[in-house]
Amino acid sequence: MTTDASHTAEPELAGVFTSPDRNAFYAELAAAGPVTRGRYFDGSPVWLVTGYDESLAVLKDHQRFSNDIINRSSTVDVAAAAGLPEDVWPYLAHTLGAYDPPEHSRLRKLASRGFTVRRVEALRPRIQAIVDEILADWAGRPEVDVMERLAYPLPIRVICELLGVPEADLGRWRGWAAGITAPDPAEVATAARGLVAYMRELVSTKRTEPGDDVLSTLVLAQEEDGDRLSDTELISLGITILLAGHETTVNLLGNGLLLLLTQPEQRRRLQADPGLVPSAVEEMLRYAGPAEIAPMRYARNTVELGGVTIGEGDAVQIVYAAANRDPRRFDQPDVVQLDRRDNPHLAFGQGIHFCLGAALARAEADIAFRSVLARFPDLALAVAPDELTRTPGITPVLTSLPVHPNQPGHGAATSSS
Ligand code: HEM
Repeated sequence: MTTDASHTAEPELAGVFTSPDRNAFYAELAAAGPVTRGRYFDGSPVWLVTGYDESLAVLKDHQRFSNDIINRSSTVDVAAAAGLPEDVWPYLAHTLGAYDPPEHSRLRKLASRGFTVRRVEALRPRIQAIVDEILADWAGRPEVDVMERLAYPLPIRVICELLGVPEADLGRWRGWAAGITAPDPAEVATAARGLVAYMRELVSTKRTEPGDDVLSTLVLAQEEDGDRLSDTELISLGITILLAGHETTVNLLGNGLLLLLTQPEQRRRLQADPGLVPSAVEEMLRYAGPAEIAPMRYARNTVELGGVTIGEGDAVQIVYAAANRDPRRFDQPDVVQLDRRDNPHLAFGQGIHFCLGAALARAEADIAFRSVLARFPDLALAVAPDELTRTPGITPVLTSLPVHPNQPGHGAATSSS
């Protein structure tokens, strides 16, 4: 199998696994054209969309581009390939992102009840309290692994809080969150079954004893016409929230903090003016966005896009990592500008499938970075950046991010680099 995107007539996405530089790989892919014929990870043919305008055109046009993998014969293969045992398919393969309207509109409307701006705003003090508790544990330690002591625990605690999972069960949830994306199919199956059984129990508890949490809101959510979410839909949605919101946020926190640690000049500006943190988070999402590729879409009819003709039924793969660095849309796309103003990145998608948890992820990152910069102004990397390693796979996560929390000479006032 050829793995270099530039030296084959049909670039292969699998090349990203072996490329020493993922950004260079995506840049080569983009150089082949904003929409180009290529191969998916399993070698099947796919249209790779790397241009910004072209990606936006696909995202905003659900009439012509379908997300529905459920009613395709390939669904079973997708679920099986992910190591999912048959009994959990209805809960794990049928995620919100795999539906088209009208089913999607119905589910999304009900699901959105749990993710209002008001609810996310109301969660901020809790997120701050969790961050404070996590950071209190850093103080006095000569070295801390940011992945172990912030990036992983924060999102899972927030998701559990959101869904109303009792704190005593957090350990089990952490295990499942890790197991569900494990390379070992047996581990995936165990985690999936554990989650489904737990969520079934939790949903039934919330039906009888609703609390002040998102799952209870969703259990009670009812449209004027009486429409409600079924138990299967609630279990599936709860698991979708965990899957969609866990590793992505872990990555935003890890990648984002690494950017801050390696851009001392820009970090100093943030420390001097924390009001810049939201724009810094947007640039982290653009430059090092956790979702490098989108869920697969399919052309409903023959359609022209970016100078090519896509045939009816063809698979269409948006490559966010390339679109977010399209030089036709972003000024100096390969340069990190934490105060970038014109930054309409696609890190959370666009259109009807726009990330349900975007406000939550932004709030977590905003609170975490502000708090770390304020409490540990002298934070410094404990290893050289090129010594850091990442997990293999479609979403590579930093295996560790060791820092010295209190390293004099690296802070806002003292650093000279
Ligand atoms: C930095 C963190 C995150 C990133 C980068 C991210 C990215 C994305 C992207 C790109 C999509 C759209 C995919 C597409 O249509 O092409 C999406 C959808 C979604 N995200 Fe997120 N996400 C993040 C955090 C979260 C969180 C915290 C939650 C929930 C608590 C969440 C829940 C969802 C759901 C449910 C969808 C499907 C929405 C739909 O199809 O209508 N995400 N996310």
